[in-house]
Amino acid sequence: MSKSLLEQIAKLKEELNAIILAHNYQRAEVQDIADYTGDSLELSRKAAGTDAEVIVFCGVHFMAETAKILSPQKTVLLPDEEAGCPMADMITADQLEQEKAKYPGVQVVCYVNSSAAVKAGSDICCTSANAVQVVEAMDRDRPILFVPDQYLGHYAMRKTGREMHLWPGYCPTHMKIGVDDVNRQRARYPGAKVLVHPECRPDVIDAADEALSTGGIIRYAQSYQGSTLIVGTETGILHRLRQENPAVKYVPVTERGVCPNMKCITLEKVLWSMQEMEPNIEIPEEVRQRALAAVERMLEL
Ligand code: 13P
Ligand code: SF4
Repeated sequence: MSKSLLEQIAKLKEELNAIILAHNYQRAEVQDIADYTGDSLELSRKAAGTDAEVIVFCGVHFMAETAKILSPQKTVLLPDEEAGCPMADMITADQLEQEKAKYPGVQVVCYVNSSAAVKAGSDICCTSANAVQVVEAMDRDRPILFVPDQYLGHYAMRKTGREMHLWPGYCPTHMKIGVDDVNRQRARYPGAKVLVHPECRPDVIDAADEALSTGGIIRYAQSYQGSTLIVGTETGILHRLRQENPAVKYVPVTERGVCPNMKCITLEKVLWSMQEMEPNIEIPEEVRQRALAAVERMLEL
């Protein structure tokens, strides 16, 4: 890797008073230059709390948008504007309004993997780390609509015993992880625990030992006593696991779990976006205010 590329990024970061945030699924070399790497909830909290003037968000569009919702006075850069999340694109604000009209008195829980406009039409946000807690906190005498991830919604429904209407969205990357893959790896590594992300299908979650957010997987590994851990989520997480706790061997449930959108961000694009100060995330103020209410309600829990 070009040393000068790393040097240029470091220099510009200082000149701009920028912070680089990276999601746990980012390329290894991108995680390595980040000031902070984490899951969606941890990154939102970091974006809300930083005093940097520029946030370079190495993740996908909804994550950078959430940073902008929380910190409108800051410049938020997403080094590749094509880095979207297909699940977030599975519901529009208009579709959400049509769905809400079907259930009088409905309260909407919206997974953070959604556009600012969808958040603006929701009562509260959640991430994979706090979905169960958020659903628990909803009014007991009103219907709940959970968007857009049917599988995270299904998981939260089972954990809380609360009935919910589920929007039929899903993550194409986590759909590539199957029960056969879990069983194959269990047979290959007897005694190893299997951790999966709650975006996986219910049969995969049932076949695993735990369903955890990416931050939850990192924390679980920190106190893991076994020699091998089988991990069922996007394979970018393996880099951080191996770096932080190298005594354990980490194997993916399947090598197919790669999110092409997360992999859009490269070091060259990070440098370019800081040089050009774009792509720069903008959200109409009226939408931002309403989305902020849903995000803040989550952060207050
Ligand atoms: P986490 O919030 O668990 O990091 O998950 C984000 C995501 O996009 C999972 O596909
Ligand atoms: Fe979206 Fe799935 Fe990629 Fe996460 S892994 S960003 S949910 S497509």
